[in-house]
This record gives sequence, structure tokens and C-alpha cells, in this order.
Amino acid sequence: MNRFSDRVVLITGAASGIGLASAQRFATEGATVLLVDRDTEKLEIALQTLGGDFHEAVTLDVTDEPGWISLADRIKSRFGKLDVLVSNAGFGRFLPIAETSLEEWRSIVSVNLDGVFLGTKHMMPLLAASGRGSIVNMSSIRGIVAAPGTGPYCAAKGAVRMFSKVTALECAEAGNGVRANSIHPGHIRTPLSAPAYADPEIAKTLLADVPVGRPGEPDEIADAILFLASDESRYMTGAELVVDGGTTAQ
Ligand SMILES: NC(=O)c1ccc[n+]([C@@H]2O[C@H](COP(=O)([O-])OP(=O)(O)OC[C@H]3O[C@@H](n4cnc5c(N)ncnc54)[C@H](O)[C@@H]3O)[C@@H](O)[C@H]2O)c1
Repeated sequence: MNRFSDRVVLITGAASGIGLASAQRFATEGATVLLVDRDTEKLEIALQTLGGDFHEAVTLDVTDEPGWISLADRIKSRFGKLDVLVSNAGFGRFLPIAETSLEEWRSIVSVNLDGVFLGTKHMMPLLAASGRGSIVNMSSIRGIVAAPGTGPYCAAKGAVRMFSKVTALECAEAGNGVRANSIHPGHIRTPLSAPAYADPEIAKTLLADVPVGRPGEPDEIADAILFLASDESRYMTGAELVVDGGTTAQ
């Protein structure tokens, strides 16, 4: 308990699934949580589940650069620093390459990748001001192993993996105390994936390559995110943490 008291934590995609589970775990551990999402209605509901009147909900599309700049100004005047940035907002869709329009490609890449870049760039001075800043970037097993029909998603998540390593090296070189790591969940049961698990045939196919025989739960990814954000992982930077029930071990 209270591993994150006195720490300010920003999570994107915090209104649902893994982002929401992480926000709840950080709040339980004493953090002040800034929940960022593009869905204002779901954000307000999410905020209510955290308790305490010091957490904040911020409506922002992570691809909106001016929005990130004004959020950085707001955090600077309110807190003067940011301790943890969890860039989690993202989505994917089944899209064979031949059926992917340039517009669909850009929409998936921009949320999953541009959002990570913009958050990193504009929050970096505040993370450096923390003296022990930690960035956790949401990739996927699809940032490591491919699957047909996931072209834009795989491309973006693979890029998030490498971008996190570059971030780690630039921070180490700058000596600003900021660490950056990527996290790679396997099949997790969240609102994003729930429709697939509702169909027994699709669920069977999805779980066929999961050695432990079940999807992961958002809490199980939240625990790994808290580890990467905490001092317990203080010698980890530029690393990739796979949380996939053994899927990529095969
Ligand atoms: N569910 C899985 O099996 C799984 C596996 C590996 C990685 N991931 C990754 O984990 C992250 C969270 O996924 P989830 O399953 O919790 O999904 P989810 O749909 O439950 O939650 C994603 C949240 O991101 C928000 N969001 C989407 N686009 C946004 C934007 N442009 N700006 C701000 N907010 C935006 C949505 O409104 C939503 O609240 C994603 O990056 C996803 O790719 C999920």
C-alpha cells in the first residue's frame, strides 16, 4: 500500500479496460491520478470509481498535439512535475493489408504510435522534474510476433517497442532520471476484446495459442504496469515486459 503516495500519475486510455484497472490500482497505492481519454462520458464514470477528490479526468485525444501542450502547462502549474506516464490509449482491428485503406492505416498508427510520441515529448520536462520519472508504453505481443490481419496494429506496436528503447537511451544520456519501458500483453479480456470472447468459436481460436488456457484480466496487466512505474524496477530501462500467459514462449 502507498507505494505511490506523493506521486502524480498520468494514464491515457484510462476510461476503460487496462487503463482503468491501472488507474484504480495506482489510486489504491496513494497516487494522484490524471485519467486521460477521448471519451468524456466514460471518463467521468471512471473517475467516480477511484474515490478521493484529488484525481482528475482530462478529455484529450492523444493525437492532438496542442491538447498535450496545454495539458503539460496545466500539470506544471498544478503539480510542477509528473512522476509516471502510462501511454496506454490504443486500438486495433482485423484488417488484411489488401483491404486496408490509407485512412484506416493512419487512424490506427496515429493513436497507437503518434500518441506515445506526443505524450513522451511534451511530458518529458515534467518527468525530468520528478527526478525519478517512469514512462510505461503500451505495446502488445503484436509488437514482437506478427499475425495475419494485424498490419497497421503490428507496425504501430512494434514501433512503440523500439521508440521506448530510444527514449530510454536518450534519457540515460541526458541523465534526467527518467526510465522508459514497454509492456507487451497477450490476450486480455477487456471491452476492446470482449465481443470476441463472447463467441465460443472465436474464443477457442484466440485461446488455442495461450498455454495457460485463459485470457488475462486487466488487473494482471495493471500489476505489471505498477511494477514498471515503481522504484522496484529502478534498474530497468529500455526493457520489454511480456505478460501473455506463455503465448510468445512457444
Ligand atoms: N485487450 C487486449 O487483449 C490487449 C492486448 C495487448 C495490448 N493491448 C493494448 O492495451 C491498450 C488498452 O487496451 P484495452 O484492451 O484496455 O482497450 P479499451 O478499449 O478497453 O480501452 C482503450 C481506451 O482508450 C481510449 N482511446 C482510444 N483512442 C483514443 C485516443 N485517440 N485518445 C484518447 N483515448 C483514446 C478509449 O476511449 C478507451 O477508453 C491498447 O493500447 C491496446 O492496444 C490490449
